[in-house]
Amino acid sequence: MSEFEQRYFEDPNYPPGLKGGDEVRGYGYYPDYFPIVEAQLSALVELTSGASLVDIGCGKGALAAYMRQDLGLRVIGTDLSAYAVGHARRAQGGEDTVRAACTHLPLGDGTVDLGWCNGVLQYLEAEAARAALAEMARVSSLAVFCSNIAAAQRQTEWGKRDRLTRLYLRPGQWAQLAQEQARGEDWTVVALPFEGESAILFYRAARLGKVFPLRFVELALERMRRLGALTRSPPGLDAFYRRA
Ligand SMILES: C[S@@+](CC[C@H](N)C(=O)[O-])C[C@H]1O[C@@H](n2cnc3c(N)ncnc32)[C@H](O)[C@@H]1O
Repeated sequence: MSEFEQRYFEDPNYPPGLKGGDEVRGYGYYPDYFPIVEAQLSALVELTSGASLVDIGCGKGALAAYMRQDLGLRVIGTDLSAYAVGHARRAQGGEDTVRAACTHLPLGDGTVDLGWCNGVLQYLEAEAARAALAEMARVSSLAVFCSNIAAAQRQTEWGKRDRLTRLYLRPGQWAQLAQEQARGEDWTVVALPFEGESAILFYRAARLGKVFPLRFVELALERMRRLGALTRSPPGLDAFYRRA
């Protein structure tokens, strides 16, 4: 059995780490996190006009439910956990949820507009993470957002007790890994400056334009601010603007 079964999702003390959220509005254990994700996701959809999305490592499907109901997306959910997939499939519209490892997605090349993967790759060994990044690029046609635990979390009390996380990488390190996997496929990968997580964005510049990452970050931050989820500008924002 994988480590990601009932106890992982339902016991707030096992093991310390990011949970898969509840079924109502996502991130039941971390309600303050939901508006951040809501801002990122809605900005991604608005700026790409994407209509379909694969939620890789979708957990119990809380976010996929939001994507379907509030954003009108056609969503395929995938997760390794039988417990999580069972939950996600029972939700309205959740029948398109399948049990699959993120290293082997059961989808054809470019079959969805957007890829989304939040809080999953940190649990993999580096080789498997590379394979998963290649899979995201393979199945998506416009853009992929992938966010993982922040490298700095390793030093926290919480991080010291987390037995599951294998990869604590900075955004630039994730972006480099991803760019190596997506090479030759016309993808550009950028490290994103969002504070408290290690997020990257893959995008097809030929279709979305070179300023897409900049617009995405600006819109997502503006939405976070509006939703009360941003208390200060991310420390890495100036450097991001200089690079962009
Ligand atoms: C922290 S939760 C994140 C869930 C969801 N993405 C969210 O943002 O609420 C991590 C999820 O990754 C899934 N997972 C772990 N290893 C996986 C793998 N190798 N392939 C697919 N899913 C995996 C777990 O079952 C769990 O649902």
